[in-house]
Amino acid sequence: MASNDRDRLLLSAITMNNASHFAHGLWRRPDAARQRDFERLPEWLDLVKTLERGRFDMLFLADVLGAYDVYEGGWETTVREGTQFPTNDPLVLLAALSGGSEHLGLALTSSVFYQHPFPFARQISTLDHLSGGRVAWNVVTSVIENGVRNVGLDQLPAHDDRYRWADEYVEVVYKLWERSWEDGALRKDVAAGVFTDPARVHEIAHRGERYRVGGPHLSAPSPQRTPVMLQAGSSDAGREFAAAHAEVVLIVATTPGSAGKLAADIRRRAVAAGRRAEDVKFLVAMTFVVAPTERQAKDLDADLAAWLSDDGIYAQISGHLQLDLSTIDLDRPLDEFETEGMQGILRDMRERVPPERRAETTYRDVIDGFARRRFVGSPERVADEIERWAAAGMDGVNVLEMIRPDSYEDFVDLVVPVLQERGLSQRDYRPGTLREKIFGAGPRLPATHPAVAARPDG
Ligand SMILES: Cc1cc2nc3c(=O)[nH]c(=O)nc-3n(C[C@H](O)[C@H](O)[C@H](O)COP(=O)(O)O)c2cc1C
Repeated sequence: MASNDRDRLLLSAITMNNASHFAHGLWRRPDAARQRDFERLPEWLDLVKTLERGRFDMLFLADVLGAYDVYEGGWETTVREGTQFPTNDPLVLLAALSGGSEHLGLALTSSVFYQHPFPFARQISTLDHLSGGRVAWNVVTSVIENGVRNVGLDQLPAHDDRYRWADEYVEVVYKLWERSWEDGALRKDVAAGVFTDPARVHEIAHRGERYRVGGPHLSAPSPQRTPVMLQAGSSDAGREFAAAHAEVVLIVATTPGSAGKLAADIRRRAVAAGRRAEDVKFLVAMTFVVAPTERQAKDLDADLAAWLSDDGIYAQISGHLQLDLSTIDLDRPLDEFETEGMQGILRDMRERVPPERRAETTYRDVIDGFARRRFVGSPERVADEIERWAAAGMDGVNVLEMIRPDSYEDFVDLVVPVLQERGLSQRDYRPGTLREKIFGAGPRLPATHPAVAARPDG
């Protein structure tokens, strides 16, 4: 097991504020009404209750700020298929869910292109206050051309430039969260008539390549100050960024071996950057189809898989790869192509095919192996599979649904008890903020994190 202090696995539910996150097409099922009605709060309140019953660490909401617009030359297929469209705002939903949950981490994705860091920092501080310190932020750099055109850019900056943009963005928000307010500044001193001590509140006076931010931060320090930092890129630039900033890295991999290699590499880079090996944890995204017996699981899987939509899947993957899959023969052997899109995922897709078999492996094989990959089995076999990934260095699982909330209900009712029985899953929550629950230390970032250098005493 990779982490030094791990006594259990982390469980996260990765989904999205829409009707079709990853298993596209399944929203059409007769029993998927709750998923189709994703705009309604009661469905989500039920989901967070289920996740807390299963002692999940986090509800993680992915996000996009535009429609995938590469497949078939535009966004029409995306819109028709419901492929992450429409998608509602994750932060607003998590604010509502903070009132209907007590322990669950509330994780959202927000791209550095989506909004200016000043209002973003205030939104996060507000949610961290309201939720008692349960917020996590997945810092992403976006791959959707349509998304950046919605926020004033003509085109997506080049891959590595997006990470340089991210570097400055996190510098600004760290200054707001960690430096602007000293501890004890908020007095609420009725007798003295001092709400906040002005001597302990500071401007940040950031002047960088892209941002000019004066400060002070408009929110007082929240329980965690900086939310738990998540990151999901796995290109070279993405690994460097994760190594510097991430506390939890989200991994998509096709084999435990490739996941373990990626985790070891990011951990090595983190240590080289002055952080401790145990400062970074790894969650692998997995889809499970589970039922009480193997036979029932196989039947359920056949029933679910029949609804998957090729067009829905290709609309998303074309966007990820920035390659219009309708323009290439998918039965052509996999060859080399480069992308300005998600390089890490492409690399993993390629690496799972041994070089000597590339000539006979097609684009379709590799793409379907990524988008349709799921583990089917009884609760015991699912738990065995999770243990296999844990043995390769994963600290936990990011559970993707086939249908929502059914996939999470099945996981909580069938798999969690087996994991608990094996001592791999918590039976109760640790007290405190999300960071305390995950790392077992304090509510704030450890001194080894670069954000801490932004503190007045850092
Ligand atoms: C598990 C996982 C979840 C992701 N979630 C989002 C998301 O919600 N929104 C988004 O724009 N990108 C998302 N991404 C994309 C990454 O943040 C990143 O931009 C992309 O993988 C390209 O980075 P790379 O080329 O360094 O691998 C996700 C990636 C992974 C692996």
